[in-house]
Amino acid sequence: MSADPTALYSRKNPFPAQLKTNRSLTGPGAAKDTRHFEIDLADSGLVYEVGDSLGVFPTNNPVLVEEILGVLGFSGEEEVTDPNGNTITIREALTRSYVITEKDKKLLAAIAQKDPTAAHFIPMTTPEGRAELEAYVAGREVIDPLLAHPAAKFTPEEFVKCLRKLQPRLYSIASSQKANPSEVHLTVAAVRYETHGRKREGVCSTFLSDRSDNVPVPVFVHTAKHFRVPEDPSTHAIMVGPGTGIAPFMAFLQERKATGATGKNWLFFGDQKSATDFLYREELEAWQQEGVLHKLSTAFSRDQAEKVYVQHRMLEEAEELFAWLEQGGYFYICGDASRMAKDVDTALHQVVEKAGGKSPEEAAAYVEELKKSKRYRKDVY
Ligand SMILES: Cc1cc2nc3c(=O)[nH]c(=O)nc-3n(C[C@H](O)[C@H](O)[C@H](O)COP(=O)(O)OP(=O)(O)OC[C@H]3O[C@@H](n4cnc5c(N)ncnc54)[C@H](O)[C@@H]3O)c2cc1C
Ligand SMILES: NC(=O)c1ccc[n+]([C@@H]2O[C@H](COP(=O)([O-])OP(=O)(O)OC[C@H]3O[C@@H](n4cnc5c(N)ncnc54)[C@H](OP(=O)(O)O)[C@@H]3O)[C@@H](O)[C@H]2O)c1
Repeated sequence: MSADPTALYSRKNPFPAQLKTNRSLTGPGAAKDTRHFEIDLADSGLVYEVGDSLGVFPTNNPVLVEEILGVLGFSGEEEVTDPNGNTITIREALTRSYVITEKDKKLLAAIAQKDPTAAHFIPMTTPEGRAELEAYVAGREVIDPLLAHPAAKFTPEEFVKCLRKLQPRLYSIASSQKANPSEVHLTVAAVRYETHGRKREGVCSTFLSDRSDNVPVPVFVHTAKHFRVPEDPSTHAIMVGPGTGIAPFMAFLQERKATGATGKNWLFFGDQKSATDFLYREELEAWQQEGVLHKLSTAFSRDQAEKVYVQHRMLEEAEELFAWLEQGGYFYICGDASRMAKDVDTALHQVVEKAGGKSPEEAAAYVEELKKSKRYRKDVY
C-alpha cells in the first residue's frame, strides 16, 4: 500500500514551499501594505479545502538578530540549545527558533538579577505587578530592556532560556485548488508600526512581504471544517469580509465558479479608501461581469468625513439580505474579531428585526437558529 501523500507534510513536518508571486494589492499612497501571495505546492501532495488556513513558519528579521547579538557581545557563532534540544548557533536560534519581538517576565527577571539598575523589573514579575508589567511590555520588544541595561551580561545559553519558542502564523487561504491545483494564495497585511521611538514589524507578515524570495517558506494546512462553502451548490452565500477578511471569499468565489454552483454570491467588502485599498477590484469586477458574483457592496471608511463600514451597507440592504436568508442563504464573516465581527453580528440582528418585522428577542432566536443549523459561519482573528 502506498503512503498517503497528504499525510507527509504537517505542522510537525512543514513543506518547504517556494513563493511564486508577491504582489501589492494596495496602491501608492495607501496607509496599509496588503499583499497577494502565490505559493507553489507542486509535488508537496498538500491538499486543502476552501475555508482552510495555511500555517507559515517565519524567520525573524536578520537586522534585529544582529542588533541583539551586538548588544549582548556575541559573535553569533556560539552554540546553544534550540527548543527541540538540538545544538545550533545562537544566530540561527535567534533567527528561526525563538521569539525576539516580544518579551515576557522571565527575561525581565533575569536582567534585574544581573543589573541592579533594573531592580524596577522585579515587582513586575510578581502576580500583583501584572498591570505594571503589561504597561511596560506594550510596544516593547526583547531589544528594549537589553539596550536600557547593557550591564546585564548573559551567557548565550542563559539568554535563549529566557525566550519563548517562535510559533507559526495562520493565514486564510485565498484560492481554490479546483482552480489552482498546485498553488495556494494568501492575502496578508504587513504589520509595521512605531513605538517608543523605534520602527517595529510583525514577524510573519514581513517575512512573507520582505524576506521570502528564494528561500523556503515552511507551510502546512490548518483545517477549518466549520468554515466551508454551502454543501448544496444552489444555496446563496452572503460573505462579509472587510480588509484581509476578503481572503477566504476569494477562495469561495473561485470554488463556486469552478464547481458551477448555482446559488447566488453576495460580498460585503470594506477598507480605508477606494482609490488605494480596493483589494482585488479587477478580479471582483470580472466575476460580476461573468455572473459569478451577483452583488458587491463596498464600504470605504475613509472616503468621506464619517466612517462607513460593511455593517452600514448591510442595514441599507436589509430587505434583500433578509430575503436571501429566508431563501436558505448562508451568512459568513471573516476578519477582525475584536470589533468588526461583533458589530456585524449586531447589524445582522438589526437586519432581521427591520426587514423581518421581528422583536429583538425574535431576531435573537432567528440568528441563534442560523447558528444552530450551521448557516452562520465565522472565521475571525
Ligand atoms: C485563522 C486565522 C486566519 C488569519 N488570516 C489572516 C489573513 O488572511 N491575512 C492576514 O493578514 N492575517 C491573517 N491572520 C492574522 C495572522 O495570523 C497574523 O496574526 C498577522 O499576520 C500578524 O502576524 P505577524 O507575525 O506579522 O505579527 P506579530 O509579530 O505577531 O506581531 C503582531 C503584534 O504586534 C503588535 N502590534 C501590531 N500593531 C501594533 C501597533 N500599531 N502598536 C503596538 N503594537 C502593535 C501587537 O502586539 C500584535 O499582536 C489570521 C489569523 C488567524 C488566527
Ligand atoms: N485581532 C487583530 O490583532 C487584528 C485583526 C485584524 C487585523 N489586524 C491588523 O490590522 C491591520 C489591517 O488589517 P486589515 O487589512 O485586515 O483591515 P482592518 O484594519 O480590519 O480594516 C478594514 C476595514 O474595516 C474597517 N473597520 C474598522 N473597524 C470596524 C468595525 N468595527 N466594523 C467594521 N469595519 C471596521 C476599517 O476602517 P477604519 O480603519 O477606517 O476604521 C477598514 O475600512 C493589519 O496590520 C492586521 O494585522 C489585527
